Amino acid sequence: MEKFQIEGGYKLNGSIRISGAKNAALPILMSTLLVDGVSTISNVPHLNDVTTTLALLGTLGSSTTITDKLEVQIDATNIHSYKAPYDLVKTMRASILVLGPLLGRFGKADVSLPGGCAIGSRPVDLHLKGMQTLGAEIDVNDGYIRARTKDGLKGAKILMDTVSVGATENILMAAILAKGITTIENAAREPEVVDLAQCLIAMGANISGAGTDVITIQGVDKLQSASYKVQPDRIETGTYLVAAAITRGKVLLKDTNPELLEAVILKLRETGAEIKTGVDWIELDMKGNRPKAVSIKTAPYPGFPTDMQAQFTALNSIASGTSTIKENIFENRFMHINEMQRMGANISIDGNTAICVGVKTLKSAQVMATDLRASASLVLTGLVAEGSTIVDRIYHIDRGYDCIEEKLHALGAKLKRVS
Ligand code: UD1
Repeated sequence: MEKFQIEGGYKLNGSIRISGAKNAALPILMSTLLVDGVSTISNVPHLNDVTTTLALLGTLGSSTTITDKLEVQIDATNIHSYKAPYDLVKTMRASILVLGPLLGRFGKADVSLPGGCAIGSRPVDLHLKGMQTLGAEIDVNDGYIRARTKDGLKGAKILMDTVSVGATENILMAAILAKGITTIENAAREPEVVDLAQCLIAMGANISGAGTDVITIQGVDKLQSASYKVQPDRIETGTYLVAAAITRGKVLLKDTNPELLEAVILKLRETGAEIKTGVDWIELDMKGNRPKAVSIKTAPYPGFPTDMQAQFTALNSIASGTSTIKENIFENRFMHINEMQRMGANISIDGNTAICVGVKTLKSAQVMATDLRASASLVLTGLVAEGSTIVDRIYHIDRGYDCIEEKLHALGAKLKRVS
């Protein structure tokens, strides 16, 4: 299994480009299933989860071409299968997002129950309840969700018990071709939901309210071919900002969008970082100083993102002072902490709260990545630890970080991939 070997102690310095957002690209690629024609999607990041998505769309009958401008063209004219098989779904939980478009356009879908990151039980009940409210019949048997509708889906009012990004996206896609009006109340407000909605609007969908907690969809008969550019990855952006802060360095991140990162930038300023922003860039300068500890509480957007919790835990582990980290979105999302403790971090866990007393130095160790963002946080601790840190199971990181070695090298980090 591939590992990263990281030599700690180098300040990051330099400039890199931020890639398209994984969590926007995946639903947008799935949404092409709704179009009886060709969709052209640009700024798609080069990631294992994208490869899995294209493979999944391929098994359903979509054909994919990568243009010379690195745009992904997907032709969903000849869909001939409605089944998302276990082999693909187990590697990527977001595969559940084929359910809405398949059901909406063809009235049938068989989707294996998802796997994905080991961060809590992560049920799909909200996705299924939403589809049922739109008139689908759902059975779960032998590990597969079997969804059917006789005369197509019908618009309805859906009140979500919990704010769920994936369920909001799945229901949104299912409702596009449904008859009548659908309202999703207590909808997720994440920027990735807005990006998906804007792509669907470009394809001819009638949606209002994306980015608020009530999304209204007036069903249309069909969608047409369109081109759409995926928004920048706010979590990749945040991860490189923390990489600069933790190493006391200075980075300029281009092709990003600071407006999507307000909660993260606010916290980074509290650590003592000097941050400047423009329309599509962010510069962080730590001025060589040790970061100050910052307490965080994860919350749905626009609150502090759970996908940045592990990276801030890494930052707090070597910061001056004590911090409290409260994880409110997922249970069991502290697995990186056991690994950080092995590197000398002083962190204790009490339920969904971690108390972190910053230490002056971390020591290198062999550590194991357990999920995508946890693996990023272990790379961050490796960048500051004394000596040579080995981060094992980096296949997790390849699911979500485009060209991470190249980007870290460009910033002056010393790391290599070893097997
Ligand atoms: C998405 C992101 C993930 C991010 C998360 C929260 C993608 C591909 N992944 O995951 O990176 O960490 O949003 O911002 O976009 N829940 C239920 N029932 C359901 C669905 C969810 O109880 O049917 C619960 C989950 O267990 C969790 C909470 O709702 O506690 C939020 O999960 P959700 O927003 O659905 O996360 P994902 O869409 O899976």
